[in-house]
Parts: sequence; C-alpha cells; structure tokens
Amino acid sequence: MATVSLKSINKLFDTTQVLYDVSLDIEDKEFVVFVGPSGCGKTTLLRIIAGLEEATSGEIEIDGIEVSKAHPIERGISMVFQSYALYPHLNVYENIAFPLRVAKLHKTEIEKMVQHAAETLQLTDRLQYKPGQLSGGQRQRVAIGRSIVRNPKVFLFDEPLSNLDAALRGEMRVELSKLHKNLDTTMIYVTHDQVEAMTMADRIVVISEGKLEQFGTPMELYHRPESKFVAGFIGHPKMNFLSVPHLSRNSSGVTVELPEIGEQLLPVDAIDMNDGENLEVGIRPEDFMLSATETGLPMKVEVLERLGGSTLVYGSVHGNQNFCALLPGDTVVREEEIIKLAVNPANVHVFDSKGTAMKRREVPIV
Ligand SMILES: Nc1ncnc2c1ncn2[C@@H]1O[C@H](COP(=O)(O)OP(=O)(O)OP(=O)(O)O)[C@@H](O)[C@H]1O
Ligand SMILES: [Mg+2]
Repeated sequence: MATVSLKSINKLFDTTQVLYDVSLDIEDKEFVVFVGPSGCGKTTLLRIIAGLEEATSGEIEIDGIEVSKAHPIERGISMVFQSYALYPHLNVYENIAFPLRVAKLHKTEIEKMVQHAAETLQLTDRLQYKPGQLSGGQRQRVAIGRSIVRNPKVFLFDEPLSNLDAALRGEMRVELSKLHKNLDTTMIYVTHDQVEAMTMADRIVVISEGKLEQFGTPMELYHRPESKFVAGFIGHPKMNFLSVPHLSRNSSGVTVELPEIGEQLLPVDAIDMNDGENLEVGIRPEDFMLSATETGLPMKVEVLERLGGSTLVYGSVHGNQNFCALLPGDTVVREEEIIKLAVNPANVHVFDSKGTAMKRREVPIV
C-alpha cells in the first residue's frame, strides 16, 4: 500500500531529452495506466520509479518518503516486464519461490506464500509443471506470482500482455483487474493499447513525446479530452477530425461552417480564442446518426463493416479520407452511396490551431 508522487521528472539520455517535467500524484491502492505511442517514454518513466534508471532531475516519493537516490530493493516495488524471464529448468513452484529463497526465508514460510500466490493466480494445479508445459497466459501468471510473493508496496507492469493473443489478453485483463481488487495495492501499468487503458485503469496518464498530456479517469478522458492528441488516442474507432472555418464567437460558443450543413453554433468556451483562428472539429464515430433530413455531413461510403449489433461505415467527408461512423446494425446503407450524417452539436469537440481543446459545456460523467 503506497502513494507514488513524481515531481518535475526530466530525463536525458546523453543530450536527447525523453521526459519533460513530468509531475504526477498516484493515490494509495490506485490502478494507474501509462498509455502513449511507442517511444513516448513510458518504460523510461516506469524504470525511473523502480530505481532501474536515474532521473536527470526531479523527485520521487513513495508513501511520502523521498526515494530518488534509493536502491531499487529499498523502494518496495516489484516490476513485471513484457518478456517474463522464467527459469526453464525450474517448475512453477520454484519459479515463484525464487525471490524468497534468495531472501533466505524459512521453508514453511515459503510454502505458505507460494501456495497463497498460486491460489490467487489459479496456478495451484500447475505447480509441478515446467514453464515449457504452460500456456502463454499461465507463464505470465507465474511471472506475476513471483512478484506477488515479494509483497511489494507498488506493482509496476510494463506491457505484460503484449506477447499474448487477443483472446488471452482479454482474459488476463480481467484477471489483473481482479488481482488488483484482491491485493488492494497500488499498481502502475504501461501499455500502448488504449482499450487496455480504458478497461483496467482507475485513472489514465496519457503521454506523448515525453510530456504528460492528461491525467484523468477513463470517462473524463473520453468526454473531455484536453487536446487533439488525447481525443484521437482515447476511443475506438478513433475520433474523426475536420478543419472548419469559424465565422463568429460569442458567450454561447463559436459558430463554424460545416460542409453542407452550413452555420452551426457549437457550445464551447471561446474566450481565449483568436479571431480568424483555424479550428478543427472532432466527432466520435458513435456520435454520428443518419440524418433524418436532406441536411447533413455528406459521406461517400467506401467500406462497410457489419458487426451485427452495429455497422461501421468508412468513407470520405469533404475530401477527408477514413471518416468513420458507427450506426445501428440494421442501417440500410450500401458502398459507393452518399449518406448524410447528423450530430448533436453538444457532442462536437472543438480544437484550436495548437490542438488544445476548447472547454465544452458540462457533460455529466459516470
Ligand atoms: N538507454 C537508453 N539510451 C538512449 N536512449 C534511450 C534509452 N532508453 C530509451 N531511450 C529512448 O527514450 C525514448 C523513450 O523510450 P521508452 O522505452 O521509454 O519508450 P516507450 O514509451 O516505453 O515505448 P514502447 O511502447 O515502444 O515500449 C525512445 O526514444 C528511446 O529511444
Ligand atoms: Mg516500453
């Protein structure tokens, strides 16, 4: 059980800066996910928390104690990597027991702790197996078991599921969430998969090019992304973006010109905006409807994906390729057809020329 607090963490490898002024307060027992594209600095940040890498500047506190200079072992942290190195010649029991044998614990204590970890991870009937006789998911659970027995204050996971196939990843996601509930411990989990982030996290940290973009609950990030980057990263299929000229602004919002819809007032806070600034609107696929009238964004349909309960319609809107609309499963629509899409203005996100989101009217968030 522990809080983790990062204060202005900067990291340079030689002259290349890879983390910029990252500050973050993680609460006790929280499940926090670091998400961002490949190379954005997730692993580096995790390794700095673990003490495997030293920050160039900044401070780390675990449970209120400054640990920036502390040895990894003194930090009470356990880290599970993407490539879980199990000892192939040792059975599951001995793999899990390994750190306890190194710590020279008594046999009966080791027995108790290994059995408990095996029960938690549903490995009791596999304790005599060698890693080569296990499935990928079971091997991953053994690696987690080995970190559980060390009874850490904080668990760090670096993409632990990325070697598994899609079905197993789904299962392990649920198991890790259950494990978090059972162990009641602070967990930090790194992934570049936004679905893993959305489904597992209490709060998500979105990182882009070494900078913290946003820190919030999954639904906060979904409903109120503060930047175009977060808006495009969180949500699947991705948000659609369209550059639009803006016509005017007032206390009710901005009026923009939407293709074939014409003037549309969007209820956002436009106080900080420059007149004449180019804007981009962002609309999530699930916020589109087929227009009931002749007015609507015209989409030339290119590809249909019928999923049963819903239909994904891909096409181009006003020269923008790869637009996507999520419509009801039975929607009557054909490839090559031009359909008209409608959207509730309250669901339209607006970004300024720097990619900063303009604040929308309050949306209740679950
Ligand atoms: N030891 C190192 N020496 C020099 N540069 C490094 C070192 N480790 C990481 N980097 C650089 O730091 C940046 C961030 O790397 P990092 O491994 O933290 O990214 P990541 O977000 O974990 O990416 P991925 O999702 O691919 O694992 C990259 O540009 C990488 O090349
Ligand atoms: Mg990484």
